[in-house]
Amino acid sequence: MERRNFLQKALGSVLAIIQASRLLGNSEACTTGHDDEGPYFKAGAPFRKNIAVDYSGKDAETLTLQGRVFGACDQLELEKAEIDLWHAHPSGDYDMDGFICRGRQNSDGDGRYQFQTLMPARYPGRPLHLHMKVTMPGYKTLTTQVYFANDTQRKRDYLFRRNKGADRSIGTKKTRNLHKTA
Ligand SMILES: [Fe+2]
Repeated sequence: MERRNFLQKALGSVLAIIQASRLLGNSEACTTGHDDEGPYFKAGAPFRKNIAVDYSGKDAETLTLQGRVFGACDQLELEKAEIDLWHAHPSGDYDMDGFICRGRQNSDGDGRYQFQTLMPARYPGRPLHLHMKVTMPGYKTLTTQVYFANDTQRKRDYLFRRNKGADRSIGTKKTRNLHKTA
């Protein structure tokens, strides 16, 4: 079977709004660019929608990441694609002992997925970002990083700049929702 590329669109917003205009267009414009996996990927993350439910650190802003997965060639939505999301938690560290701010889920019949999590903190040398790996039998795996369009630190980042033409930044609409810890 010919291996095909993913067309993967993600939007992060605490209000979880999909902007339909960002989901349409030709494949050249919408194909999500690849990015480094980085040193903190950890296989075997649990399947769940809220990947920060076990976070007990300082209060943090909540984040909803919502997107769709399409085949890059035919642009048809892909059901049951596996989306593996991981990122630094609000204290700036990756959880290498457990699975805080790590989780997987499968896209639904419209190719959609939605994660509940917390805004990551910047760690030295990197802008705000999330890591994502999308897999599906018969398709080439997409490993990418999701950036935030309003983050001015992106332009100083080597990983972002070397492939800045690739569409992998998302818009956000912030509220004052806070994850409160006991
Ligand atoms: Fe990272």
